[in-house]
Amino acid sequence: MGRVDGKVVLISGGARGMGAEEVGLFAREGARVVFGDILDDLGQQVETEQRALGHDVAYAHLDVTSEADWQSIVALAEERYGLLDALVNNAGISISAGGGAGNIAMEDTSVDDWDRVMDINSKGVFLGTKAAIPALRRAGGGSIVNISSIAGMTGAWSRSHPYNASKGAVRLFTKATAIQHAAEGIRANSVHPGPIMTPMSESTYADPEVAAQRLALVPLGRRAHPIEVAYGVLYLASDEASFVTGAELVIDGGCIAQ
Ligand SMILES: NC(=O)c1ccc[n+]([C@@H]2O[C@H](COP(=O)([O-])OP(=O)(O)OC[C@H]3O[C@@H](n4cnc5c(N)ncnc54)[C@H](O)[C@@H]3O)[C@@H](O)[C@H]2O)c1
Repeated sequence: MGRVDGKVVLISGGARGMGAEEVGLFAREGARVVFGDILDDLGQQVETEQRALGHDVAYAHLDVTSEADWQSIVALAEERYGLLDALVNNAGISISAGGGAGNIAMEDTSVDDWDRVMDINSKGVFLGTKAAIPALRRAGGGSIVNISSIAGMTGAWSRSHPYNASKGAVRLFTKATAIQHAAEGIRANSVHPGPIMTPMSESTYADPEVAAQRLALVPLGRRAHPIEVAYGVLYLASDEASFVTGAELVIDGGCIAQ
C-alpha cells in the first residue's frame, strides 16, 4: 500500500528538478498526479517515462503566473480523476542562479527582475492556492505544500534579495492559508530546502571556488539529492501529517541551525 494511495495530487514546475522527482515519488506511492510547467517538451517526456512505469500521471501546460492556466489544470484534475486532494506549489525561479557567486547587487536589480521573481515565486503560489481551494473544499479537505526555501527564513544564503523576499512571502502566505482554511480540513505547510542538486543551481556550483564556499556553510557538507526534499513533501501531502498545518519543514543539511 502506497503512502498516498489513490490521492489526486497537482504539482507545479514538474518538468524537471525537485518537481519531476516529486511526480515520480508520488506516483510510486500510489497517487494519480497532474503536473504542469512551461517546459512542455520536458514535461511530456516526464509523462511518457512515468506512464512507461505504469504510473497514472498527466502533464498539461501551466504558467503559474496565469490565472486561466491554473483554472484549466485544476479542472483537468477534477475531470480526469473526479477530485483534487493535494496541491504542491513547487515552480520557482532564482535570478541569482547563473550569475557566478550569485550576487546581484541591489542597484543592479531591475524592476523587471523584481517583478519576474515575485510573479513566479509569490503570485504563482497565490494563484495556485486560489484555484485549488474550491476543489479541495469539494473533496472534503486536502493538503497544500508550498516550496519556499531557507532563503525565505534567513538573508544569508540566496544573495538575491528579490528571491529572499519572494520566498519569505510564501512562508507567511502559507500560514495565512493554514489558518483561514483549517476549519474546512484544508492543511497548508511550507518546505524550506537548502542547497539541492537541480538544474536551478547547476551553474552556481559549476564554479569549484563558489561551490567550496557554499558547501563550507553546510554542516552535512554536501548538496542534497531532490528525493531528500520529495520525501518531506510527500509526508506533508499525505494523511501521515493529518495534524500538521501552518508548519515549516526545513530540509537543509543543518544550514540555518548555526
Ligand atoms: N535547488 C535549490 O537549491 C533550491 C533550494 C531551495 C528552494 N528551491 C525551490 O525549489 C523549487 C524547485 O526548484 P528546482 O531547484 O527544482 O529548480 P528547477 O529550475 O530545476 O525547476 C523549477 C521548475 O519550475 C518551472 N517553472 C519556472 N517558471 C515557471 C512558470 N512561470 N510556470 C510554471 N513552471 C515554471 C521550471 O520550468 C522548472 O521545471 C523552486 O521553488 C525553488 O525556488 C530550490
